[in-house]
Amino acid sequence: MNKAYIIYKVEEYVKSSLGNHDGGHDWLHIDRVRRLALYLQEMEGSGDRLVIELAALLHDIDDRKFTERDDSITGSKIRLLLESLGISSHDTEKIVEINRKISFSSGGYEGMPPDEFRMVQDADRLDAIGAVGIARAFNYGGYSNNILYDPTGRHLSTIGHFYDKLLKLKDMMNTASAKTIAEERHEFMLKYLDQFYREWDYAG
Ligand code: ADP
Ligand code: NI
Repeated sequence: MNKAYIIYKVEEYVKSSLGNHDGGHDWLHIDRVRRLALYLQEMEGSGDRLVIELAALLHDIDDRKFTERDDSITGSKIRLLLESLGISSHDTEKIVEINRKISFSSGGYEGMPPDEFRMVQDADRLDAIGAVGIARAFNYGGYSNNILYDPTGRHLSTIGHFYDKLLKLKDMMNTASAKTIAEERHEFMLKYLDQFYREWDYAG
C-alpha cells in the first residue's frame, strides 16, 4: 500500500480517538512528536522512518491518564489497524511495543531498546520541555485546577512539576541529537524559573 495513504489513515484514526484531551496533549502534540522523531532519525541516521512515524502517531493512544488502559485491547486495536494497511507483523509488533513502553513511568526493554523506540521517546520527552513544554505544563495545571506555585512546597503546583519531572528529562535522552536539543530547552526553563521567582518576590 502507498506510504502516504497508510500515514493518512493512521492520522485519521489518531485524530478520531484523541478527541477530548486537554490542549497540551492533543493532535498538535502528536504532530510535533512525529516531526521531531523524524528529525532525530535524520540526524542519527538509523531506524526505520515509517515505523518511527507510525509509532509517533500512535504513541499516546489509550494513555493511562485518560482511560482505564487495557494493554491487550490497545494492542489489538493497533494491530487491527496496521494489519488492514498491510504493515508487516514484525513492524506492527514493534509499534505496539513502543506504544506500551513509551510512558515516563513504564519499565523499559530487556537490553537495548530499538532505535525507533529511542527516538519516539526522545521526541515525546523533548515536547515536554522548553517553551512548548512550559506551555503544556501550565495548560495541564489549569485543566487539573492546580495552583501555579506554592512557596511552601506543600501543595501540588505547576512549578512543582518542573522539579518532579521537567528538569530531569534532559539527562534521560536516548540519542545524542536529542540531548543537544534538550540542553537548550533546559537552559530556557532555568531562565524562566529565575524570572518567575523574581516576579513572585518582587522587590523593585
Ligand atoms: P506524554 O504522555 O505526552 O509524555 P504526559 O501524559 O506525562 O506526557 O503529560 C502531558 C503533558 O502534561 C506534559 O507536557 C507534562 O509535562 C504535563 N504534565 C503532566 N503532569 C503534570 C502536572 N502534575 N503538572 C503540570 N503539568 C503536567
Ligand atoms: Ni506524548
